[in-house]
Amino acid sequence: MAQKWTPDSWRRHEARQLPTYPDAAALAAAEEELRHYPPLVFAGEARELKRDLAEVAEGKAFLLQGGDCAESFAEFHPNNIRDTFRVILQMAVVLTFASKLPVVKVGRMAGQFAKPRSADTEEQGGVALPSYRGDNVNDIAFTPEARRPDPQRMVKAYSQSAATLNLLRAFAQGGYANLHQVHRWTHDFMGRSPWTRKYTDLADRIGEALDFMAACGINPDTVPQLKGTTFYTSHEALLLPYEQALTRQDSLTGDWYDTSAHFLWIGDRTRFDGSAHVEFMRGIGNPIGIKCGPSLEPDALLRLLDALNPAREAGRVTLISRYGYDKIEAGLPPLVRAVRREGHPVVWSCDPMHGNVVKAANGYKTRPFERILAEVRGFFAVHRAEGSFGGGIHCEMTGQNVTECTGGAVAVTEQALADRYHTHCDPRLNAAQSLELAFLLAEMLNQELAERRKAAA
Ligand code: PEP
Ligand code: CO
Repeated sequence: MAQKWTPDSWRRHEARQLPTYPDAAALAAAEEELRHYPPLVFAGEARELKRDLAEVAEGKAFLLQGGDCAESFAEFHPNNIRDTFRVILQMAVVLTFASKLPVVKVGRMAGQFAKPRSADTEEQGGVALPSYRGDNVNDIAFTPEARRPDPQRMVKAYSQSAATLNLLRAFAQGGYANLHQVHRWTHDFMGRSPWTRKYTDLADRIGEALDFMAACGINPDTVPQLKGTTFYTSHEALLLPYEQALTRQDSLTGDWYDTSAHFLWIGDRTRFDGSAHVEFMRGIGNPIGIKCGPSLEPDALLRLLDALNPAREAGRVTLISRYGYDKIEAGLPPLVRAVRREGHPVVWSCDPMHGNVVKAANGYKTRPFERILAEVRGFFAVHRAEGSFGGGIHCEMTGQNVTECTGGAVAVTEQALADRYHTHCDPRLNAAQSLELAFLLAEMLNQELAERRKAAA
């Protein structure tokens, strides 16, 4: 029988990937400070997202989740927030228009700071220092002072998250996301991509549909959905002292919610049996994600689902598979079958990023666009064969014109990686590559939906 859950019960379990703070009193002070700060999101919003995700689990909507691998203090700028939001809107429009399904939009934003690392230390020129673990833990500069974990960074991350979320809420509801603006959501530097042309054509068609509807009396004043959109936030719930400090009891229901974001996920390195991260996630009412990589056995996944969603509530759990383009077709089917056999209502989402990292000859960590696409193709092929619904995509992307992933229609070459490689962690799709992915994904999703309709007829 599981022991009683409390916001701090994770402290009695094995915690991997957490920093060791040299000053326990400073850590306690930062946690105490955060405990008095306002929640960033409300429980009611998290419940709405859970309802939206329940629609995805049933095949009636699609999940689009994306943003930086790691947000950083250095890249904190309104234009960066706007540009990432804008490319997510573009992707959502492309997916909605093609599939005629509502798209649930979730940013890896406003809190995505902490990073799990494969090694505890990093070596450069014969010197070993603690690994960089994200801007809410330590600094990326390679010096002993910079790499020392500083708990006050959590406070700074909180305030950056609050400001980011404030701007996102303004963009989503204050007119920027009005569907009549669909033409304006383009990025100047994307001119050379053939997909920009395709996007303009699509925006024309949406404009025509809106004009027609306006003539029928349907306009943003009569139908507020045309005026704004709902945009949720998410991050990996890795830095548990921070997550615990923002976990609050909902006054309406008495349930506990982690108010640092609407959606939290458990990473591939922290989802093991007995993990402190699983213990923490068990007690919060938010919708949650579990990263599913090649090392996850079907039985272990079922144990996780029993612990994290004993009531089998639809929308509570999103399984985010991240196998690698060459492993997904063998690795994913056993999980899909086990989950179906036990009747767990999950959202299946595809992270085509984390299994497809390669090192370029010049040392840059990159992801070839073709491999990303190949994993998405494999994901849909598995779900088609298993009769389940491939319901979401999880990607690392930015609205900036970076050169971090190779390939795409305006090809980024390995030699060009050095030009604008800005990520603090993993390579992200740039705006043009993200839009291209959305169009190709829309095609695959449509095929999937057509098969489903055929099977149902
Ligand atoms: C991530 O999403 O940035 C990440 C570290 O993923 P994973 O846990 O799947 O490796
Ligand atoms: Co990443």
